[in-house]
Amino acid sequence: MNVHADLTPDHKVIAEKRGALVEFGGVTKSYGPVTALRPTSLRIEAGEFFAIIGPSGSGKSTLLGITAGFIVPSAGMIRIDGADIVAVPPYSRNFGMVFQNYALFPHMTVAENIGFPLRMRGVAKTEKAERVARALAMVRLEGLGDRRPSELSGGQQQRVALARAAVYDPLLLLMDEPLGALDKNLREEMQEEIKKFQKALGVTVIYVTHDQQEAAAMADRLAIMRNGRLEQIGSPRQLYERPQNIFVAGFLGEASILPVSKATPLAGGFAVAELAGGGSVEAVASTGVGEALCIRPECIVVGPEAEHTDNVFAAQVEEAVYANGSVRYRLRLDGSGHVVNARFSTRPDLVLMQPGQRTKVGWARRDGLLIEGRPET
Ligand SMILES: Nc1ncnc2c1ncn2[C@@H]1O[C@H](COP(=O)(O)OP(=O)(O)OP(=O)(O)O)[C@@H](O)[C@H]1O
Ligand SMILES: [Mg+2]
Repeated sequence: MNVHADLTPDHKVIAEKRGALVEFGGVTKSYGPVTALRPTSLRIEAGEFFAIIGPSGSGKSTLLGITAGFIVPSAGMIRIDGADIVAVPPYSRNFGMVFQNYALFPHMTVAENIGFPLRMRGVAKTEKAERVARALAMVRLEGLGDRRPSELSGGQQQRVALARAAVYDPLLLLMDEPLGALDKNLREEMQEEIKKFQKALGVTVIYVTHDQQEAAAMADRLAIMRNGRLEQIGSPRQLYERPQNIFVAGFLGEASILPVSKATPLAGGFAVAELAGGGSVEAVASTGVGEALCIRPECIVVGPEAEHTDNVFAAQVEEAVYANGSVRYRLRLDGSGHVVNARFSTRPDLVLMQPGQRTKVGWARRDGLLIEGRPET
């Protein structure tokens, strides 16, 4: 039986892949005694938007540079649609690239810049003009083809770089901090544009950024790097709601991390955890029975309603910060003295608590996670 027989023509179009499947197997990079990338194996699906985040020096650019071919790995293989490309020189890999410092050619017009990769590939003049026009339209810069890069804004220049990277329909687009030089509003606008553009092209994207919010907003999946290692990989929601350790929990968004001295498993994937310094809570034993308890600020209930949660504490408000319709409280728990942070939306009629005020704090046991890592106390 033909398994595709019941697919409508529309489904067939969706099932047809355009981007490249990228597979890394044991890829490593050392510079003498410095290990920039530890053995890394990873599969990025065709058409996927894959983001890599992590602190400075964690190996993000190294992984991207190895993929681009600028950096020769010390060991390992990279397969694109099943074919190993480690021995293929960078200019023959046919990947689109947008790097923060991968500047436009200042002496060329916008159209010449975008057409440059086509010229290098010997594309005929009329076809070149057509494809450049299409690329200009895609990044909404129609009519600006005759300008020089110096006559464009930062965001417009970045769009030209994007058009130049995409003009020859690459299967894989590599971006390293492409929006790093732009201000916040422009960054957010460009994030949306890059995302739209990637969907329209169906291209696979590997996107490196410092900015965890940017990564979470754009990526299908993201990886968090630390010390040359992919610490955890998952959807933005998986990583936020189910971090495996305190590094991931702290890197992505805000979290209260409390030290746990002892934990005993319960039925149903839960555990009872004794907090260092006193008090006990029930929590999700997500990665076995870890040494730290992680609670996201939006999961913490403050005030009389806290009495109805699974883990209730008396506490004192230490700090209340209002910003743009939401309030953040820093609360010190009685007994153990641990601090938790709560955040929620406010309305104009809501009376906020003040520092020094006594209150109740609590959270549901499904909202506390026992994770790995020893928090500072
Ligand atoms: N050519 C080199 N020689 C020696 N060490 C290097 C070289 N290039 C990178 N490194 C080291 O490898 C590690 C990873 O560097 P990499 O550039 O991949 O970090 P990154 O995550 O991109 O950081 P950033 O966010 O600052 O761009 C760092 O410790 C860096 O100092
Ligand atoms: Mg870098």
